Amino acid sequence: MRTHYCGEVNESLIDQTVEVVGWCHRRRDHGGVIFIDLRDREGLLQIVIDPDTREAFTHAERVRSEFVLRVKGLVCHRPQGTVNENLASGQVEILCAELEVLNSAETPPFTLDDTDISEEVRLKYRYIDLRRPTIQQRILLRSKVVRHLRNFLDKHGFLDMETPILTRATPEGARDYLVPSRTHPGSVFALPQSPQLFKQLLMMSGFDRYYQIARCFRDEDLRADRQPEFTQLDIETSFMDEEEIMSVTEEMMRQLFKDVKGVELPSPFPRMSHAQALQKYGVDSPDLRIPLQLVDLADIMRDVEFKVFAQPAQDPQGRIVALKVPGGNSLTRNQIDDYTTYAGHYGAKGLAYIKVNNVAAGRNGLQSPILKFLPDEAISRLVERVGAGDNDLILFGAGNAHIVNESMAAIRVRIGHDMELAEEGWKPLWIVDFPMFERDHKEGRFTALHHPFTAPATQSTDELKDNTETMLSRAYDMVLNGNEIGGGSIRIHKADIQQAVFDLLGIGEDEARDKFGFLLDALKQGCPPHGGIAFGLDRLVMLMSDADSIRDVIAFPKTQTANCPLTQAPSGAEEQLRELGLRRLKSGTTK
Ligand code: AMO
Ligand code: AMP
Repeated sequence: MRTHYCGEVNESLIDQTVEVVGWCHRRRDHGGVIFIDLRDREGLLQIVIDPDTREAFTHAERVRSEFVLRVKGLVCHRPQGTVNENLASGQVEILCAELEVLNSAETPPFTLDDTDISEEVRLKYRYIDLRRPTIQQRILLRSKVVRHLRNFLDKHGFLDMETPILTRATPEGARDYLVPSRTHPGSVFALPQSPQLFKQLLMMSGFDRYYQIARCFRDEDLRADRQPEFTQLDIETSFMDEEEIMSVTEEMMRQLFKDVKGVELPSPFPRMSHAQALQKYGVDSPDLRIPLQLVDLADIMRDVEFKVFAQPAQDPQGRIVALKVPGGNSLTRNQIDDYTTYAGHYGAKGLAYIKVNNVAAGRNGLQSPILKFLPDEAISRLVERVGAGDNDLILFGAGNAHIVNESMAAIRVRIGHDMELAEEGWKPLWIVDFPMFERDHKEGRFTALHHPFTAPATQSTDELKDNTETMLSRAYDMVLNGNEIGGGSIRIHKADIQQAVFDLLGIGEDEARDKFGFLLDALKQGCPPHGGIAFGLDRLVMLMSDADSIRDVIAFPKTQTANCPLTQAPSGAEEQLRELGLRRLKSGTTK
């Protein structure tokens, strides 16, 4: 039906006849002449319909927004003064010879230029919402990114392999989505949280290098960067250590950014230990574009009269830090109160501050409600340690280390952006040397920081048991501009270490047999050393397309409460439930 996409028609086609198809983006009637902006996935093209072309004009008169049209006409220069520099086709227009209405359309529930529509409505009419040029470009970019990643991995000998969707639980730390079995009444499949165990089994089968664009399912609380189903670029290799895996995959990212965005990422990516990331930034996915760092003050504040600072300074579970904000002196009382409230969302009990008016004047050059609680020595050491200068602001976080880390990390990012301190560009890094385990706050037991199949930094079960708390793992995360875009590890490839890790996680022998017997057996059948990584494809494309949420780069995403307004999923299914031998509990009961 067409010779070109609308967005492809440009000056190189002047004086040629082209045929295009698309949607009427806008129609303007200029007293006699009708203009239609015709839209397809590649862009907009201006069609001019003159009353002299009788038939075309008659059709054009009844065209409305979102009608589907076919147009044949001559490519001409736009008259001077009407060139649109923002469009690829902005130098030209089509002088219409033929116009056919392929289909009409009812008045759409919103126009594509409308930016003020609720997400519920946008998702309900997602097929219209997806026609917006900005969203189309993001989805197109996604396709380009996937193609690029596949090409890279194909070239490097990775095999594209599929793994089951109906499977058993794979522990990645979220709740499972369950699918009841009809043929085994009372039993359920779990949808995979990741293909983790299958990709390890593929290594045990000798496929050596695997990848998959894999759909993963996690029933967890949603955020802008989390969806209940999302896509990973999942990778596993045999006989490669962490250095090789990190080196191949960062090269993959460098080539991707170069080819798709024309951006040179650093080579190699910088690395930071997990401990260092928490110490300097309070998170394990720091945004290095923001040049602010947390500074520990425990030694200075141990013995001061101000309990808010002294207590956490003395408590091994506590932390007291300062964050220097250059030029932050200009913040008003109200603004500081806002930041205090914001820190409060993360559990912080306050956000003490000192305004630095004049460093040379010592205590008298400072301004703060907490100065009176701090001795001269503490003040001068503090000012020196954070490197404060005139007109800076010093913020303080004190209390439980977890809360201080989370709240001060959030404050750092927010203030960094508010004060326009963030650098432009791309700051990737690797986080390495993760602890193997963390203690669950409520129950006091160990949980795996990555997943239970991650290798510890020792081959000895005794060492693992003796140094559980401090044991590091062989895991690595790739972080880009404050987002964890990938995570992986070298895996355990010996049955005794795997069993020891299960033990430490409180998974007894019987439970381990029941849940992971197949893995423990496979580990004894000639398992090669292996490892891998998975990238969050949605997050990566979100960053590359400058979107605010991964929902903007997924064609049919779920809402914040994990439903789909378009299809009304999830939905009741009384009949099928009966067939499955299932019955809904009366609300509020457990029987
Ligand atoms: P992990 O759980 O770190 O590792 O996941 C890998 C990457 O997937 C992305 N991601 C998500 N994206 C959108 N919505 C979610 N709910 C979501 N959860 C995770 C993140 C993350 O870095 N099997 C291991 C990988 C391995 O060890 O090889 C795994 O799944 O970008
Ligand atoms: P208060 O003694 O509670 O009035 O607090 C005095 C100052 O210390 C205020 O500016 C509070 O915001 C701040 N503050 C209180 N608790 C904390 C805390 N846990 N961390 C940082 N600042 C705090």
